[in-house]
Amino acid sequence: MTEKNIHHTPVMLQEVLNSLPANPKIIVDWTLWHGWHTSNMLKLFPTIQKLYWFDLDPNIFKETKEKLRPEFGNQIDFQNKSYTEIQSVLWDEKADFLLVDLWVNLEHFKDWNRGFSTNIDGKLDMRFDNTNGKSAYDIVNTYPVPELTKIFTDYAEFTPKKSEEIAKKIVETRKNKKVETTFQLKFLLNELGLGQKACAVIFQAFRIETNKEIDNVKMLLGEIPNVLSVWWRCGIITFHSLEDRLVKQWFKTLAETWNFWLVYKKAVQPTYTEIQQNRPSRSAKYRVIEKII
Ligand SMILES: C[S@@+](CC[C@H](N)C(=O)[O-])C[C@H]1O[C@@H](n2cnc3c(N)ncnc32)[C@H](O)[C@@H]1O
Repeated sequence: MTEKNIHHTPVMLQEVLNSLPANPKIIVDWTLWHGWHTSNMLKLFPTIQKLYWFDLDPNIFKETKEKLRPEFGNQIDFQNKSYTEIQSVLWDEKADFLLVDLWVNLEHFKDWNRGFSTNIDGKLDMRFDNTNGKSAYDIVNTYPVPELTKIFTDYAEFTPKKSEEIAKKIVETRKNKKVETTFQLKFLLNELGLGQKACAVIFQAFRIETNKEIDNVKMLLGEIPNVLSVWWRCGIITFHSLEDRLVKQWFKTLAETWNFWLVYKKAVQPTYTEIQQNRPSRSAKYRVIEKII
């Protein structure tokens, strides 16, 4: 039931640590997971007084809170919330460094119960917060053809024709029997001639829709000017081009029309050695912006 050889390793850890300015006091880690970036920042920068940590996943929240509390409990303010709720948490403070790591935690892929992976048969779910909201099962089994088509064109970047073909196949199949598991969805896609890579892209598109990932990233980007202190920085790691395009464009707008500058002109990418040691890191891009007034 579990996918072997998947271990989540923090991505571009050294690059993130190098991008922090000296003596930060208030940090926000918007996507903590098991806290690799966070615990290293806390060890390296003794000036940090408070670290606000967000993670939407209730299981990860519980585990990581227990793990980090003995050493860092006085400094970390644990928030089992979406990063989109930052204003309600940081309402009278500003942050010196904001970190966002938008990858999917690879532990999610190992868990058959979460339905993120094309390689493990399990129930279709794909929610980061699996206690709330519509799951991938609801989307696959209720969205009409035009809405499904839009997901595949917008998030999988398939042509409208191919997207509609996939949408019709799903709707046709579910008339007889609901699509309940990841393998049922994968086999249905295989019948259209879609191979492993295309299936993974379709799964990713359902995950983006299930978690409203693009809307959330847009909200998060909009919050940066409000929650960042002057002379301090925000760093964002993305893992696919849809997100990176949004970050790149917004950082450019901030640098051209607001009081920000791009700390790195181009996105920082993992080194050859990191990619050899951690294959999933190969698509990561890290962009950093600083607020100057
Ligand atoms: C790649 S992991 C972060 C890894 C972390 N930087 C590390 O290396 O230890 C991304 C995390 O973001 C969380 N997440 C996804 N969407 C979120 C949201 N809207 N708000 C808060 N956390 C979210 C996921 O549950 C996952 O644990």
